[in-house]
Amino acid sequence: MSTELAVIPDPVTAAQRYAHVIGWGMHVPEKIVTNDDIAKLVDTSDEWIQARTGIRQRHVAAENESTVTFAVAAARKALAKANISPADVDLIIVGTASPEHIFPSTACLVQDALGAKNAGAYDLLAACTSFIYALSQAANAIKSNEVDTVLVIGAEALSKITDWSDRGTCILFGDGAGAFVMQARSEPGGFINSILRSDGSGGPSLMVPAGGTGMPASTATVMDNQHFIKMNGREVFRFATRVMASACQDAAERAGITIDDIDIFVPHQANKRIIESATKKLKVPEEKMVVTIQDYGNTSSASIPIAICEAIEKGQIKQNDTLMLVAFGGGLTWGAGVLQWDVPPPPPLTRIQETRRSIFYRYARIKSVFRRILRRMEARIFGDGAK
Ligand code: UT7
Repeated sequence: MSTELAVIPDPVTAAQRYAHVIGWGMHVPEKIVTNDDIAKLVDTSDEWIQARTGIRQRHVAAENESTVTFAVAAARKALAKANISPADVDLIIVGTASPEHIFPSTACLVQDALGAKNAGAYDLLAACTSFIYALSQAANAIKSNEVDTVLVIGAEALSKITDWSDRGTCILFGDGAGAFVMQARSEPGGFINSILRSDGSGGPSLMVPAGGTGMPASTATVMDNQHFIKMNGREVFRFATRVMASACQDAAERAGITIDDIDIFVPHQANKRIIESATKKLKVPEEKMVVTIQDYGNTSSASIPIAICEAIEKGQIKQNDTLMLVAFGGGLTWGAGVLQWDVPPPPPLTRIQETRRSIFYRYARIKSVFRRILRRMEARIFGDGAK
């Protein structure tokens, strides 16, 4: 099954490896929550939210949806776009601040749902900067000849950890996922470089206090809403406006280019005013900035890949554009990366290819169920294997 779906890449020598994006996809839940809907829950208004953040609406998970369901949906689209079989993925990295569990990792659950039987999988938590951190790790793993194909996902179900009675946070966040397939190629280009930064002294300004080992879950933590996002908005705002432009300048300098060489900037979609401030500091025309916050709100790790998918769809990102990705978030973390968008748009899948793909996923689900049953039978037969 895997060889039928696989695209065999050009032979790549260990000395010349570049990490190109060859597939991309996004997914957001169907349910839309407008500013007027939020105004029914807390003391706010559509006018205030639009003026202070640029957000008009956000997509929010249904009860039966979660970070994994969004990650899998986005990943399937990215793999289809690249015409890659899940069996050909060597590594899955999921950037998320709202993982399915503390463990197992969201990435492992995605691996199972996709039937990516040859992939290592792990989560990466750098809050809203996770996707840039994950791209950096994926590109370095490819360039160092450790792996050939990596699935990089940014996925969030932040609505599940949002306090819907706190107007300082519930107006901002949205759910969804975006995914890239990155693959080794011998042609120069792809993900060029990144700069990654952190300042843990700012950790308290954006956090989920309880549920970890520092403050384990208890009746008191639940009663006190300590499992929800807590944020000092003004502090995060000031930090963001301080680091966005300088991160872009540092990443450009490291790549040996200038800000003028960048065709399109894809900033983390946290607040339109933060993006406008970075636009001014960098002295770049507004048309070079991708802004999608009005439709999705702040989707944290998913905001950059969702923005890229939207910008490609609208023709704002074109082949051979040089992109600057820049983000900031809890940790505090921030970072920027230079990405050459140089792989030609792949042709759409044929009907037969799509059918094969859906059979593959159904087969993967059956195999997963079968393995779980086998594990239970083993436990019944052998009991406690340690004895
Ligand atoms: O991915 C990273 C995650 N976080 C961020 O990027 C967040 C960065 N921060 C922000 O985006 C902004 O700080 C917020 C949108 C959260 C808040 O906007 P702000 O312009 O910084 O508002 P503020 O906190 O300075 O509050 C201004 C006023 C206050 O009233 P007074 O004291 O001036 O009378 C607030 O009580 O607006 C009031 N206010 C609201 N009014 C209506 C605060 N939140 C709301 C609200 N609706 N939701």
